[in-house]
Amino acid sequence: MKTAFVGKGGSGKTTLSSLFVRHLATLGVPVMAIDADINQHLGAALGLDEAEAAALPAMGDRLPLIKDYLRGTNPRITSAETMIKTTPPGEGSRLLRVSEDNPVYDACARPVELDGGAVRLMVTGPFTDADLGVACYHSKTGAVELCLNHLVDGRDEYVVVDMTAGSDSFASGMFTRFDITFLVAEPTRKGVSVYRQYKEYARDYGVELKVVGNKVQGQDDLDFLRAEVGDDLLVTFGHSDWVRAMEKGRPPRFDSLEDTNRRALNLLRTAADSAYERRDRERYTRQMVHFHLKNAQSWGNERTGADLAAQVDPGFVLGESVTAAV
Ligand SMILES: Nc1ncnc2c1ncn2[C@@H]1O[C@H](COP(=O)(O)OP(=O)(O)O)[C@@H](O)[C@H]1O
Ligand SMILES: [Mg+2]
Repeated sequence: MKTAFVGKGGSGKTTLSSLFVRHLATLGVPVMAIDADINQHLGAALGLDEAEAAALPAMGDRLPLIKDYLRGTNPRITSAETMIKTTPPGEGSRLLRVSEDNPVYDACARPVELDGGAVRLMVTGPFTDADLGVACYHSKTGAVELCLNHLVDGRDEYVVVDMTAGSDSFASGMFTRFDITFLVAEPTRKGVSVYRQYKEYARDYGVELKVVGNKVQGQDDLDFLRAEVGDDLLVTFGHSDWVRAMEKGRPPRFDSLEDTNRRALNLLRTAADSAYERRDRERYTRQMVHFHLKNAQSWGNERTGADLAAQVDPGFVLGESVTAAV
């Protein structure tokens, strides 16, 4: 299943993404961790040192390779140049699977050894000023979106994306690409206002949005979140000494994580699992087409000089039974 952590900067997206990834690793299930945040910190949170994190290949720099591979022999996509971040797969496209080896993972994914086992990590790469703002052709998160739209993930396979709640993800449709979205919020007015904005965008698309309270210190914090977000509050994390020790460069063994925080992680997994059961593959495909047509019209057609609506394969539904072209 596809999961995302979003929220205000500093709320704890990277911390909770990394804890969730570590938790899943102890269960022995396949995990793909993706850093799609403007501030690239997931590698470090998974224990990589500065040099290791800096050596991670940037997906944003490998877009031509990613596009060429995914396009496969799809006759509706005539070149990698006309493939934009929202171009949907169709007959002939190559699809990705969480556990396989493929040229995209060879180029972009690296294994990270954790207490429980290894996970794969992919990163968009550092953002520059030119990347930010409007629906940008070279948008780095576009590489992530393309991969998500070509990824067939099964039950018990987890994709965990550390992401911002920025305008780019709303323009492109990235925010609709997940089985469940965990909105990390501290018990503050700012934390909750990001939730409201997200909820507003999510409303029309049936996005499964759950609030994960973080740095929650007592009853008053809990009451505040309950009053502000109601039933959308899934679970809360307290201050973690384990995280603190990790930040001091003395990573403890993961099995020494606080019990309450471990229970909270387990709840995240349960919520993700049940969201996966409710996945609607046709709606998922319909939404990628919707955002593609929107992007084609607003900038894509003009930028590529092609009619990008013609890339849509009307009979295609992204699902596990689809067989990829070889
Ligand atoms: N539950 C927690 N316990 C202790 N420290 C935390 C916790 N959650 C986040 N932090 C700390 O707060 C800071 C911001 O968290 P981070 O995950 O980097 O936020 P974001 O990715 O949303 O910007 C980091 O120093 C992190 O270690
Ligand atoms: Mg972060």
